Amino acid sequence: MTGRESLAETGQDRDWEMQARARAIVAEHQGQPGALLPLLHAIQAEFGCVEPSVVPVLAEGLNLSVAEVHGVVTFYHDLRHARPGRHVIKVCQAEACQAVGADSLLAHVRRSLGVDRGGTPPDDAFTVDVVYCLGNCALGPTVMIDDVVHGRVTPARFDALADVRRRAAP
Ligand code: FES
Repeated sequence: MTGRESLAETGQDRDWEMQARARAIVAEHQGQPGALLPLLHAIQAEFGCVEPSVVPVLAEGLNLSVAEVHGVVTFYHDLRHARPGRHVIKVCQAEACQAVGADSLLAHVRRSLGVDRGGTPPDDAFTVDVVYCLGNCALGPTVMIDDVVHGRVTPARFDALADVRRRAAP
């Protein structure tokens, strides 16, 4: 067996394991009214994203078409198609934060980390998401890093916060 074949097999095994776990999660939600969204969130909580390989499993389990499930996954910005980096950074772009420089902060964040919206850099350290209000409007610009909200974030403060997270354990 070549290295390439064993790599392919590893990826295939991973897909099968993921699909088996997805079937178990589908079974927990079957029969529940409006099951698709809670199910998608449960899948994302389990795997970090809703990978294309599990979409047919969800569609079959809920008696929907693959296109219907895919349509919902792509409609909601909260749902990811690919695994995020080790740390997720959410930069608020709603009105109150915009009024105090959120757009230039976002440009700095992207430049500083070398990522686009929703993108993850090659070192896999961060994923940057744009969000609209983190409930910290009086203290903008606001950024959430993993589960911690930070207010009055300047570019220099952002770099310091990101540096601490980069060096922290995942
Ligand atoms: S507008 Fe940014 S936290 Fe509410």
